[in-house]
Amino acid sequence: MRIIQLTDPHVVAAGTIWKDQLDTPARLTEAVAAANMLKPDLVVVTGDLTDDGPGPDGEAQYQAAAAALSALTAPLRLLPGNHDDRDRMRAAFPSVEWDAPPFLTFTQDFDGLNVIGLDTIIPNQTAGMLCEDRLSRLRGQLDDRPTLIFAHHPPGVLGLSFMDTIGLQQPEGLAAAIQGHNVLRIACGHVHIEAQAHWAGALVSAPPPVSATLPIAPTPGAPITFTTEPLRLAVYDWRDGVLSVKTVAA
Ligand SMILES: [Fe+2]
Ligand SMILES: [Fe+2]
Repeated sequence: MRIIQLTDPHVVAAGTIWKDQLDTPARLTEAVAAANMLKPDLVVVTGDLTDDGPGPDGEAQYQAAAAALSALTAPLRLLPGNHDDRDRMRAAFPSVEWDAPPFLTFTQDFDGLNVIGLDTIIPNQTAGMLCEDRLSRLRGQLDDRPTLIFAHHPPGVLGLSFMDTIGLQQPEGLAAAIQGHNVLRIACGHVHIEAQAHWAGALVSAPPPVSATLPIAPTPGAPITFTTEPLRLAVYDWRDGVLSVKTVAA
């Protein structure tokens, strides 16, 4: 059984170019084609699906994202990032399933692997948080199964000078919730660079972004510049009770 994670596509409206640098709708289309080649059983997008979901172009951005993702051959799960808008995301993907509103969370049993998707956003803020409502949902979804959690905001433990400050705030709530459960990994996005950290008994990770990559340590005070790297995909294989993870070239 195979899951592919796509993160941070930052899709802009069709016919426009993200930051005059990258055709993000085309990049997501490329990622979808590459994912299909790997024959996943599930694809999870961990947020920042659009570049400005709440903004004036938001609906057009979700349309472009939905057009690109419509070519996926596997079932799709979507989580919001700080650049997304929950209502517009829900409206643009009528066939994607989430738990009960208001949050865009999901849980599903994946052949004995408990797969949980968290909604970590605070509308109109860059950093994320899990309120007591969401932590309580999470506690109800954790049991004795091996668990893979997806979320947009990682706890700020990835050793990234800038991004660590705008990650999941008050992460001790998440650490307490997973304590005593077999959480193998918390697979996130948001940081725009491949990174991993051992935290709270689990592995926190972020795969390469679908869109552009950020430097590991931006020069203090200087504008942050993105680079465009060759596309790579995060592949999670669940076989015989073992979760293996690969990052593969598209
Ligand atoms: Fe992002
Ligand atoms: Fe983000």
